[in-house]
Amino acid sequence: MTQTLTLRRPDDWHLHLRDENMLRAVLPHTTAHFARAIIMPNLVPPVVRGADAAAYRDRIMAALPEGADFTPLMTLYLTEDTDPDDVAAAHASGLITAVKLYPAGATTNSASGVTDFDKVAPVLERMAEIGLPLCTHGEVTDPAVDIFDREAVFIERVMDPIRKRHQGLKVVMEHITTADAADYVSSARENLGATITTHHLVINRNHILAGGIKPHYYCLPVAKREAHRLALRKAATSGDARFFLGTDSAPHTDANKLLPCGCAGCFTAPNTMSILAEVFEQDGALDKLEGFASLNGPAFYGLPANSQTMTLTRTPATYPDHIDTPEGPVTVFDPMMPLNWSAALD
Ligand code: DOR
Ligand code: ZN
Repeated sequence: MTQTLTLRRPDDWHLHLRDENMLRAVLPHTTAHFARAIIMPNLVPPVVRGADAAAYRDRIMAALPEGADFTPLMTLYLTEDTDPDDVAAAHASGLITAVKLYPAGATTNSASGVTDFDKVAPVLERMAEIGLPLCTHGEVTDPAVDIFDREAVFIERVMDPIRKRHQGLKVVMEHITTADAADYVSSARENLGATITTHHLVINRNHILAGGIKPHYYCLPVAKREAHRLALRKAATSGDARFFLGTDSAPHTDANKLLPCGCAGCFTAPNTMSILAEVFEQDGALDKLEGFASLNGPAFYGLPANSQTMTLTRTPATYPDHIDTPEGPVTVFDPMMPLNWSAALD
C-alpha cells in the first residue's frame, strides 16, 4: 500500500477569495497548499476593468500570511460594456490571466453579466487574437429551462456557437457538473479545457435534497444525479490533460447559507487535497492526482508547473468543521467519509 505520495505543488484554477475580512480569513487556507489560483472577479461591485484587478491583486497581496509564497492569477468580469482595449492592456502587462463570463443572473453577484452574447463578440475576438482564455460559468438562465438541465442547454445554445464563431479562442468550461459537459470537452479537438471541483466529485443531488435540505451542499451549478458524478470522477481520474482542478471554494457565512434564500457555494480550501487523495485512491488512480491538481492546469494556461512539491502521507487528516471569521463562522465542506491522507508542503 502506498504510504506517501509526492507531487508538484498544486494550483487552484477557480477560487473565490472575496475581500477584506473574509479575504484575510480564507486566504491562509489556500496558500497553505496552493501556489497559484485563478481569482474569481464576482465581488460587489465586480472586478471589471484592469484598474479594478490591479487594486484587488494589491489587496490580496497585502492579506497574504507572513512568508506565504502565492501568486493570485487575476481575472476580469466580462460585461456587455467591457472595452477590448482595456482587456488587451491588462493582458499585455501580465496583470490578468483570463476573463470570466457569467450569464447575467446565473449565480452569486452575476447581475452585471452577459445577456446578449453578440454584444461581447468584439472582446472575444480580441481575446482569441491575443491568446487570452475565457472562463465560463456554463448555465443558461432561461427560467423555462429546468435548473438540472441548465449546463447541458448552455453547451448547445451558448458554448458551441461561441466556439464556432471564435475559432482560436481558448475556453475553460468551469466547474462542470454533467456527463454532457465532460463528453463535450473530451470530443473537442483544441482550445477547450474544463475545471472540476472537489465537491462535485463527492456529492450528487440526493446529498442536497434527500432526508432534509442540506444548504452546505448547495452550490452552482447544482450537483446533478449520480450518473453525472460518476462521469466527472471518470474524467478527473482519466489522466486526460483537458481536465484539471478548480475548487470553486466559495465561502459564505453560515448565517448567509442558512437563510430562506441561502447562498450557493461550498468552502473546500482547507480539505481539498485530502479529499482528492481519497477520491483518486478509491478509483485506483492515485498516479493521476498530480496531473489533475498540479500539471494539467499550468499546461492549459501555458505556464510552468510549480517546482516546489507537496507530500501526501497516509495519516488521518485533521481539519476544522468551520473557520471563524469576523463576519461569522464559515462551514468547511463535509465529505462524509474519513480522510486518510494528510497534505503538507515539502
Ligand atoms: O456555488 C457557487 N458559488 N457558484 C458560483 O458560481 C459562485 C459562487 C460564489 O461566488 O459564491
Ligand atoms: Zn465559482
